[in-house]
Amino acid sequence: MCSNKRKIVLVGTGMVGMSFAYSALNRGLCDILVLVDLDKKRALGEAMDLNHGLAFAGSSMKIYAGDYSDCADADMVVISAGVSQKPGESRLELLQRNTEVFGSIIGPVVRSGFGGVFLVATNPVDIMTRVTYELSGFNPNRVFGTGTTLDTARLRYLLGEYFCVDPRNMHAYVMGEHGDSEFVPWSQAMIATKPVTDVCGDSGGRYRMEEVERLSTQVRDAAQRIIEAKRATYYGIGMAMVRIARAVLSDENSVLTVSARLWGEYGRKGVYAGAPCIVNRNGVDRVLELGLSEQEQEKFDASCDILEENYGGLEL
Ligand code: LAC
Repeated sequence: MCSNKRKIVLVGTGMVGMSFAYSALNRGLCDILVLVDLDKKRALGEAMDLNHGLAFAGSSMKIYAGDYSDCADADMVVISAGVSQKPGESRLELLQRNTEVFGSIIGPVVRSGFGGVFLVATNPVDIMTRVTYELSGFNPNRVFGTGTTLDTARLRYLLGEYFCVDPRNMHAYVMGEHGDSEFVPWSQAMIATKPVTDVCGDSGGRYRMEEVERLSTQVRDAAQRIIEAKRATYYGIGMAMVRIARAVLSDENSVLTVSARLWGEYGRKGVYAGAPCIVNRNGVDRVLELGLSEQEQEKFDASCDILEENYGGLEL
């Protein structure tokens, strides 16, 4: 870490960025939070608005609108800049536009002398994280994305409701693209340490795998449903970003399904995709390899292939 003050620079003060900032303030995530936006006036207004809540926040966080030079001594740069999905639009459709936006962000951050960890939330997040990795030239550990962290949280919430168990005791992951090709490796899903397949099998028909599998479709389609209803999603992803940032700043070694660069894990090399990872002050310390079934491995491969294809078509 660069100093004893935990400092985060947030690039992009739209709804996602500001949900992160609001949640960060309420959780006392860091000591200094700098807001950077192409629209400086907006960043100034957001900083003012948050500062007016400081008296109620139980935190003495320093919040201000800044610029890329603020990254020099930051522990993390969190990026949520770019355009977001419209109803009916997939995350992948945002790719070219957001790559152009990142072209103007990553260079100035690196030139500031930034020595911390990049966390990317902009969609399509797996590819935008890979773009950040390529443009920054950083060690891949220090560049990762929100990946399927939010999808995993959505899944645990739905499983918790279905089985009537605290979601924190539901251990199940969404893996692959944060998007339409994501999947749940059900062979690795547990309630406490009991496999979900056994819980269903032993329940005398009370719980059924077909029902459980339907929940993963709900997770996959959740963002579209929210976008149709209220034009955008932001609270869930903002809180997921805070959870991930806390794992970094507090050096937690937490398992989170972030988007990480695979280097041989699950038989893939070079692609960024959502997989359970140990996250600490170094960023992604390592990727956990679960024992996927053959069918699950095929789903993971298919998802990685889509990410590779889309990345391959990009002009950086
Ligand atoms: C969602 C956006 C963050 O899934 O992609 O809500």
